[in-house]
Amino acid sequence: MSKLALVTGAKGGIGSAITKQLVENGYRVIATFVPGNEDCAKEWFDAEGYTEAQVRTLAMDVTNAESCRELLGRMMQEEGTFDVLVNNAGITRDSVFKKMNSEQWSAVIDTNLNSLFNVTQPLFAAMCEKGGGRVINISSVNGIKGQFGQANYSAAKAGMIGFTKALAFEGARSGTTVNAIAPGYTATPMVEKIKPEVLDAIKAEIPMKRLATPEEIAGAVVYLASDVGGYVTGETLSLNGGLYMQ
Ligand SMILES: NC(=O)c1ccc[n+]([C@@H]2O[C@H](COP(=O)([O-])OP(=O)(O)OC[C@H]3O[C@@H](n4cnc5c(N)ncnc54)[C@H](OP(=O)(O)O)[C@@H]3O)[C@@H](O)[C@H]2O)c1
Repeated sequence: MSKLALVTGAKGGIGSAITKQLVENGYRVIATFVPGNEDCAKEWFDAEGYTEAQVRTLAMDVTNAESCRELLGRMMQEEGTFDVLVNNAGITRDSVFKKMNSEQWSAVIDTNLNSLFNVTQPLFAAMCEKGGGRVINISSVNGIKGQFGQANYSAAKAGMIGFTKALAFEGARSGTTVNAIAPGYTATPMVEKIKPEVLDAIKAEIPMKRLATPEEIAGAVVYLASDVGGYVTGETLSLNGGLYMQ
């Protein structure tokens, strides 16, 4: 039987590549998108050429704890226990801190950090009971090194790393691993929002002088999800072209 994975923000740039590589590796993927984006989700599903056996789309707002608990409970009844959870949904609301408003702060913390509670908690106990589960959190290089204009985003992404390390202790005994991936700048719609002159300056700073591809990030997810990735836990895997070496 195929292993079951949940990918949040599955039709975004990195989420699409993660979903594709998981499907190519034999997983059945429950692919979440923002409620209200049903038409786009259908278009995405058709354009990727998925079958219903491979991918099931699910409208789920990762910021809404109650609806996540209800929807994920229903998914487990219908689909079984999840083997892999990829917490990938995320947003940016960049602003210098002195001009940042509370909406920008809260939206980023809710979507990128509070979502970890909302999505992981309903699945984690069953994952551990089954044994050998995988939780993979998509953090960011800017959660490690900080970034001008991203106090909200850097705080949320650094929080994801703390969550990863703490939860890794709780999963370890059952062989359930919890890891983070910290991508550098990756060619997706999120990065297309950056002004071209700013992006050129960012690329100039990256030792490899290019952005990551979503496929490079997805490859790391597949590794951490795999059986041979089973001894890695509590780690943050950096994929940043040398932008920040720890
Ligand atoms: N691109 C980069 O350079 C980069 C670098 C480091 C880390 N990351 C991280 O990688 C992850 C994916 O980013 P990306 O570049 O692929 O961005 P993206 O293309 O903008 O995709 C983001 C995804 O998040 C989903 N999402 C946003 N708010 C949500 C909510 N409230 N509930 C459910 N889903 C929600 C979106 O869903 P819809 O499709 O339905 O709108 C979208 O699919 C993010 O966590 C991001 O912070 C990205």
